Amino acid sequence: MLTALKGNILEALSLDTLGVHPDSYLVLEDGRVEGIYSILPESMKEAAVTDFGDALILQSFADMHLHGPQYEYTGTGMDRPLLQWLDTYAFPTEARYADTAYARRMYRVLARDLIRNGTTRVAMFSSLHTDSTLILMDELDKAGVTGYVGKVNMDRNAPPFLCETTEESEKETLRWLEGCRQFTRVKPILTPRFAPSCTDRLLAFLGKLKAERDLPVQSHLSENTNEIALVAQLFPDCGQYWEVYDKYGLFDSRTLMAHCVHSDIRERAAMRLRGVHPVHCASSNNSLMSGISPVAHMLQEGQTVCLGSDVAGGTTLSMLRTMANSISASKDRGSMMQDASQVISIEQAYFMATGASRSFFGQGIGFAEGELLHAVVLDDTDLPMFSGLTLRDRLLRAVYRLDDRHIKAVYSEGVRLL
Ligand code: GUN
Ligand code: FE
Repeated sequence: MLTALKGNILEALSLDTLGVHPDSYLVLEDGRVEGIYSILPESMKEAAVTDFGDALILQSFADMHLHGPQYEYTGTGMDRPLLQWLDTYAFPTEARYADTAYARRMYRVLARDLIRNGTTRVAMFSSLHTDSTLILMDELDKAGVTGYVGKVNMDRNAPPFLCETTEESEKETLRWLEGCRQFTRVKPILTPRFAPSCTDRLLAFLGKLKAERDLPVQSHLSENTNEIALVAQLFPDCGQYWEVYDKYGLFDSRTLMAHCVHSDIRERAAMRLRGVHPVHCASSNNSLMSGISPVAHMLQEGQTVCLGSDVAGGTTLSMLRTMANSISASKDRGSMMQDASQVISIEQAYFMATGASRSFFGQGIGFAEGELLHAVVLDDTDLPMFSGLTLRDRLLRAVYRLDDRHIKAVYSEGVRLL
């Protein structure tokens, strides 16, 4: 069946290229992108058109780093640096997810709010609890959110109420992977919380599992200076933080590494050579006073950087706000260093929030032909439309000024969900 969305279509074609199609038709065949046309071709005249008027039609967002069980306390408890923040807020909150009924209730709200914010793709940490992780995957799957969720592995340096033995962690990871088979949209991703949370034996187990089952991996890297010092102390044979993951085969093109705030040129080169995807989490880096990531330089070096809300270190689930925060953080870094090359553009922010993660989703570029539609429709028509305002200006303004109340439609896998 032929359908079409009509409006101002904006695609992220590359880090530096915005595809702009004013007042155009995005034609779908059974939910798959057929093409973009300024005038509907004669052969498509029977297409059922949804006219969004002067609204902006964007690719929907991919949030490549967030913590499902932390969503409930987003916007609170940000008065400590990372390691103290984990002990004070993150660990006690995550412990509540031993209760599966509680998890069901909370994860349903999270799944709904992701769709409301136009996020249709995720890479998410759950807690260490297997059953609640399966519930999280079920709720995302039902809501139409696609992507990856990981049962967290943590067998040391954690409080007794949120710690597994190595044997439990191994056994529960295998049980969780069995349970994942029932889901169609949400897939498993191995999730060692971060190097300090995992023994060598557990990391070796996960590396072997990754190789055997060809699984992706997500973790944290070089977020905070005290964390980096702790890693050096716990893994004295590794010269740098990344070498811990690399030693156990957890550092390749199917790996997402959140933060990388303090990754130096050597660590960044290792990521680039192996095709590891850094995930920039500007809001969380600010909240937990971790530092300001050299994200513009990572892009200039050729890294494929994605964006993450990192709730609840981050203060918002909104990827619009996450893009704005990324641009702002880059300007803070630029101001601090009196170096304009630290600043990222709206094109770069939009690409990082959409296409940068495409290898994880088997996607092409922009609204690629033949792919199930992932799109979000933003209505900015209550803002002043002054003369000379371009669609690029409106995208930048949308990032700074719009929120979920302006989201008029969300499509995931070709289906309109909102
Ligand atoms: N490093 C290890 N665990 C976490 C977490 O929950 N949040 C953040 N921001 N960093 C981490
Ligand atoms: Fe995180």
